[in-house]
Amino acid sequence: MKAEATAPGKMILFGEHSVVYRGPAVVLAIDRRARVLAEKRNDKKIFIDADDLGFSGYFEDDVYYPVHGKAWRGRNLAAINVATKKTMERIGVEGGVNMKVRSMIPIAVGLGSSAAICVATVGAVQQLFDANLSRDEISKLAFEGETIIHGKPSGVDNNVSTFGGVMSFDRSTGFKHYKMEGTMPFIIGDTLRKRSTRMMVENVAALKERNPEIMEEILASIADLSTRGLDALLAKDLPKMGDLMNINHGLLSAIGVSTMKLESLIHTARKNGALGAKLTGAGGGGCMIAVAEEKDLSNVERAIRQRKSESYRVTLTDRGVESRWVEEENADS
Ligand code: MEV
Repeated sequence: MKAEATAPGKMILFGEHSVVYRGPAVVLAIDRRARVLAEKRNDKKIFIDADDLGFSGYFEDDVYYPVHGKAWRGRNLAAINVATKKTMERIGVEGGVNMKVRSMIPIAVGLGSSAAICVATVGAVQQLFDANLSRDEISKLAFEGETIIHGKPSGVDNNVSTFGGVMSFDRSTGFKHYKMEGTMPFIIGDTLRKRSTRMMVENVAALKERNPEIMEEILASIADLSTRGLDALLAKDLPKMGDLMNINHGLLSAIGVSTMKLESLIHTARKNGALGAKLTGAGGGGCMIAVAEEKDLSNVERAIRQRKSESYRVTLTDRGVESRWVEEENADS
């Protein structure tokens, strides 16, 4: 038997970047998941098979030894090593673990793949040692792994991936979870250009350092429209959401996190019937999202694809982290 956990990716609807300083951000768990399988080893190695992502190797005393792929890829796997070890420390167990990572969430494009992998890692390890950790604990342990990749993340990605559903986060008031009935489709446009969240957050910090007053005003405006955006989302008021997404995107462009490719996809979406479109996540590449009436969804998707980009629909999911035991022969299903 192997311990398995899955966790969803996320989409930021409003408030990325401003949430690092002042909230709220409005974040949704999406129906694309990361999956981690764990089994015990007889030695102390943390062996990570991430061959789907193009690399695998093991950590021994926190030193990375590549098996497939380049040595520097160990940086990507360090978060999994840390999340695994912190979880074992918390449970009070020692030893090695084999981890197999598979993900339906594209990496480094703003859809929370690294957080989902960290959450699923903690979920699988706690299942492996029958620890029954609370969701709060799983989220906190996953955050320790996330920190390795993203520097000082706000914590929205690991939180929404652990709990699922709709969430808002404000540094001063913390996380709030909301229930939404039914599904709501969003269109994702992926520029297919990867970028580092850490670098984008650092760029915004540097701009703020050079222009404190004006940046304060922009970040406050984003925070204000995020609050209004949450109301529009919960009321399922698509035209209002669209307006606010468009304004939010304008402000994200103003703070320098958009790119020509993102602008092109966003304008293409709007021109082809989207009620609103904006970049999602850290920007600098990665993905944009759009909302549209049902009848316009296919048009918008098609138009984005014609711009040498990926486009697909995602819907909100209530399913957060889930763990269970699987038979060896079902481990790949
Ligand atoms: C990254 O998904 C969103 C940012 O706001 C950073 C963070 O919240 O940690 C850019």
